[in-house]
Amino acid sequence: MVFMHEYGKQMFSKNIHNEKRNQERDKIKKQIFLNSKTNNKQKNILARLKYNEVYSKKCKDEKTIDGSAKIIRIKKNDNLYKYAIAKAAKIIRKGKLVVFPTETVYGLGANAYDEEAIKRLYEAKERPYDKPLIIHVNSMDMVRCLVTNITEEMQTLTSNFWPGPLTIILPKSITVSDLVTAGTDTVAIRMPDNKIALDLINAANVPIAASSANITGKPSATKAKHAAKELWNKVRLILDGGMSKIGIESTVVSLIDKTPIILREGKISKEQIERVLGKKIKTYEAQNEDQVPQILKYKHYSPNAKIYVAKRNERRLRTIYSMLTFGKKLKQEKKKMMFIFSNELPKSLLESIKQYGKIICFKSKEKMAHEIFDTFRKADNEKIDAIIIEGVEQNSIGGAIMDRLIKAADGEIINYL
Ligand code: TXA
Ligand code: MG
Repeated sequence: MVFMHEYGKQMFSKNIHNEKRNQERDKIKKQIFLNSKTNNKQKNILARLKYNEVYSKKCKDEKTIDGSAKIIRIKKNDNLYKYAIAKAAKIIRKGKLVVFPTETVYGLGANAYDEEAIKRLYEAKERPYDKPLIIHVNSMDMVRCLVTNITEEMQTLTSNFWPGPLTIILPKSITVSDLVTAGTDTVAIRMPDNKIALDLINAANVPIAASSANITGKPSATKAKHAAKELWNKVRLILDGGMSKIGIESTVVSLIDKTPIILREGKISKEQIERVLGKKIKTYEAQNEDQVPQILKYKHYSPNAKIYVAKRNERRLRTIYSMLTFGKKLKQEKKKMMFIFSNELPKSLLESIKQYGKIICFKSKEKMAHEIFDTFRKADNEKIDAIIIEGVEQNSIGGAIMDRLIKAADGEIINYL
């Protein structure tokens, strides 16, 4: 089943416009009822006509100022699938922005070869210009145009992990704009494992520079509606392909130096990369503030609620006890709280924690990765002031989860008591 509707009108502007509309209507009615000598029925018709005239003019103006995104929900084997992809591709080729799904998170995409479109992307996201973008491709031919040389290591990584959640950094070719790479001479490339994304790149027939579809600093969008909420008046089209499969962003690995280095952890782990390359690689750790590369420079993934991450103790009960003690303190400050646990809790504990705030228990690390950004956004909708989160073990996708949590917490770590 396919349907199209205008999010701009339907979802977000609805309340504001309704309120404005009602005020406008009342104002017009008042004027007409005070001034006119006609009967009530005529007065009502006059009021409606006048209102329509004023309102439709307003609508037109608003559209030209803001634009408003169309959202198309598509499913595989859908009749309108081709139509949606073609429409999105046309927008990309015209230099405008499209939100599209990938297996990690939703992307806000623009033609990688169009500098005006890239500028538009930075503006829409309110992203600082010194933070480079990932270019999304659907073939090795596209990669060849973007880099100076496809190294053996690159080939090994792409044949093992593409399409998939791995972004690879290599020296860029002269075809890549400095705007995309934030003035550096390296370029980040990824082939997403998502049919809609791949078909879109294919139809647009250009590589697509895309960032996570959120305003800078906010949690990444894992549902079309997250992107719509923040970007509805800045993009032409949102392709809704359902909830992102993985939920956190790709692993970013740089092949610039002799020893590859992971700049951002993701689903593809250090061990997986080491196994296929047959050598040890590094994970980036800044020695001092000045050395911090672009990728790690900015505050990330933050909901409005304050995040506190509890350091993990081998004895889980100690971690939980620390979380609870911390929560009790916040409760005295009248904070509305949410507790997030990385695993299920015994019933007795659930009962005693419940009185302090809402409880979310994930069943596995994968589930936690999948839903953590969505949970942050839900907490904001519920006006939660503080989220206290149980840390996870840093193996498999746990490393990537802890990376996001620690950045979201901005240093607010709860040590066990
Ligand atoms: O899973 C993902 O990677 C998602 C989906 C949409 O593909 N994209 C994503 O993009 O997370 P973004 O812009 O939110 O994060 C890209 C990260 C940034 O932290 C940026 O600094 C880094 O990749 N990056 C891009 N090009 C780089 C380069 N040449 N050198 C170092 N870091 C780079
Ligand atoms: Mg991002």
